Amino acid sequence: MNILELIKKRYTAKTYNSVKEIPLDKIEDLKEILRLTPSSINIQPWKFTFVQNQEIKAKLASVSMHNEEKINQAKLLVIFSVVDDFDAFQKVVDHEFSNTSRNWYNQIKASMPENDLKIWLSKQVYIALGVGLTASIALGLDSTAMEGIESDKYMDILNMSAYKPLFAMAIGYGSEDDFNRIEITPKSRRLQENVIETI
Ligand SMILES: Cc1cc2nc3c(=O)[nH]c(=O)nc-3n(C[C@H](O)[C@H](O)[C@H](O)COP(=O)(O)O)c2cc1C
Repeated sequence: MNILELIKKRYTAKTYNSVKEIPLDKIEDLKEILRLTPSSINIQPWKFTFVQNQEIKAKLASVSMHNEEKINQAKLLVIFSVVDDFDAFQKVVDHEFSNTSRNWYNQIKASMPENDLKIWLSKQVYIALGVGLTASIALGLDSTAMEGIESDKYMDILNMSAYKPLFAMAIGYGSEDDFNRIEITPKSRRLQENVIETI
């Protein structure tokens, strides 16, 4: 299937087949695909937490607003977090990054308030969501992007301190009778002429 057909086929899964397992190699591919996400000045300010453990997934589901049922049903939950502890991240920048990225980051950090820096870093993590949603359908998997999560409670459950969850993605096989499947609920988007300008 070509990329346009895949994108047309992709939909937000609202219910999942809770029995069918995801092959391990697909999960490993997804980890590597997310790691390869591009970001401004190659800053990579993220942590991707792959949760397959049913018990922990159920705890996270219980603090995920209207998303509880689908998280419990889906075989995999990936949590996308952004840097929250800037002292800890400075060590990452100093040890893991090229001189170019490090110099750029230090300049940007010095030029803006911490809150603006957080917003800029968070935007980079959203790029990984686009990559993850596209990769999932290319791997033959269904997915759900979810901002409807209680970030502070996720941090407690996951014992997380240096990073803060922004959103999560449920992944698995959508159930056959999901009302949101493309055959039942056709894609709804603004017209191309209203969103694309060609000069
Ligand atoms: C950043 C983001 C957050 C979203 N959060 C939720 C969510 O918490 N729960 C949910 O069921 N869908 C969520 N969605 C799905 C959107 O509602 C959905 O992508 C949009 O309506 C278009 O439908 P489609 O993905 O089926 O084409 C989210 C999507 C994005 C991109």
